[in-house]
Amino acid sequence: MGSCWVRLILLLLGVLVLPAIVECRVRHYKFNVVTKNMTRLCSTKPIVTVNGKFPGPTLYAREGDTVLVKVANHVKYNVTIHWHGVRQLRTGWADGPAYITQCPIQTGQSFVYNFTIKGQRGTLLWHAHIQWLRATLHGAIVILPKRGVPYPFPKPNKEFVIILAEWWKSDTEAVINEAMSSGLAPNVSDAHTINGHPGSVSACPSEGSYTLPVESGKTYLLRIVNAALNEELFFKIAQHNLTVVEVDATYVKPFQTDTILITPGQTTNVLVTTDRNSGKYLITASTFMETSIVAIDNVTATATVHYSGTLASTPTMLTKPPPQNASSVANRFNNALRSLDSKKYPAMVPKTVDHNLFFTVGLGVNPCPTCTAAAANLSRVVAAVNNVTFVMPNIALLQAHFFNISGVFTTDFPGNPPTPFNYTGTPPANMQTTNGTKVYRLPYNATVQLVLQDTGIIAPETHPVHLHGFNFFIVGRGLGNYNPKKDPKKFNLVDPVERNTLGVPSGGWTALRFRADNPGVWFMHCHLEVHTSWGLKMAFLVDNGKRPSQTLLPPPSDLPQC
Ligand code: C2O
Repeated sequence: MGSCWVRLILLLLGVLVLPAIVECRVRHYKFNVVTKNMTRLCSTKPIVTVNGKFPGPTLYAREGDTVLVKVANHVKYNVTIHWHGVRQLRTGWADGPAYITQCPIQTGQSFVYNFTIKGQRGTLLWHAHIQWLRATLHGAIVILPKRGVPYPFPKPNKEFVIILAEWWKSDTEAVINEAMSSGLAPNVSDAHTINGHPGSVSACPSEGSYTLPVESGKTYLLRIVNAALNEELFFKIAQHNLTVVEVDATYVKPFQTDTILITPGQTTNVLVTTDRNSGKYLITASTFMETSIVAIDNVTATATVHYSGTLASTPTMLTKPPPQNASSVANRFNNALRSLDSKKYPAMVPKTVDHNLFFTVGLGVNPCPTCTAAAANLSRVVAAVNNVTFVMPNIALLQAHFFNISGVFTTDFPGNPPTPFNYTGTPPANMQTTNGTKVYRLPYNATVQLVLQDTGIIAPETHPVHLHGFNFFIVGRGLGNYNPKKDPKKFNLVDPVERNTLGVPSGGWTALRFRADNPGVWFMHCHLEVHTSWGLKMAFLVDNGKRPSQTLLPPPSDLPQC
């Protein structure tokens, strides 16, 4: 903010530094959380929305802007909003995960999220971060480069935000509450949506669909967001190639593909050249799931690219989505991702490692005397990181940390599995986890290498793991068990992709690196909401550095109380 004032004073003195001035904007948004009746799949239900919209409003900002969002809660549920991927340097209070960085905003209350976007540009998303409210409480964040700074790719003629999500006919809060009390898996969604619409589905042929209006011979930037709760998705447009230019608000080396893979919490920017003369072309969003024993929503959402001047009677050109278990398509896409690593946008991969961590991520089964459904058999499905099923505290971890309130969490989160086993082989007979509210503590600026290893307990599954407060570099990935001797030799420490959410492959592992240069308490969890609910979550506590600029700011005065 300091330099903003200097520029403002210069302006008052009549010095023309306009381009610099406009960088220093403060953007005000008002998010009214309200219930609204929506009709989808031929039935109507009340959903929780921001300002009555599904998907919610897009939040626009420029790199360097300060954003103030006043969130007013007018619904019966407690609410928080998370700005997924915004680094929140020193402003962890505005991060949003309930009981991690803040107590929820209660009915009738409001809270102003106040943060500055530094060193980031591209597409991110905002979403509710409590229970399953993000099913309908979500929207895009578009961070434009500073004024006068071009994109490192051809300037598009126009930009569109494309939000993928899931739709349940029933109330999603009831779905998860029922699952948690029965011990069984929650019901899967009834359809996927593209900008709020499933497209024509057999269950409801009259269902509306989203249309993307284009002109021939232009280039469009699509800002694609996966806001679904539980499904990784493939995205395709009939007869059009996609040039990937950015993921999770970091630029990548452009590459062409006909299909992108996008996990919940991820964002992908693609350029599309409209190289046809006219016509209608189908867009599909379809599920990716390698394991067949887990129930999924396999209803493909559709939308249409519509060239101007095309007759209404023109049939839509179709495309076939990849098979649900198309690992080869998924791997090809992931392996093609590389940081742009240009002079202006270098890949700052930590070359040395202070904390070498190995976390298993997967499921488990714990006793549950109250889980009386026959299929549950007095047990419940849980999920864990290094065999710890995270227990939500009653007050926010960040508050407990800042105000030195003891008894809320412990700092003994294990850096390695407590009992090593053949992670991707036959699961151990005892699949029970331990419960705890444990964090892993890091000194300011420590470098971390973290290997996330999927386990085959119950079923191997992909886990789109999201880390709050940081971007990380994906330095390696592979199938089977991670080999600490051989695998690091193959790590890419030059131009690995930089993200905030990664897919741990089913029955495999992913290695990431980051620098703990942001003091606070930072949640890390699977972005499949069902796994988060089951306990696949933990937090890093990053200490303050020595300098004031390396210190967590004090909480805002309107921070909600528990
Ligand atoms: Cu997008 Cu902790 O979440």
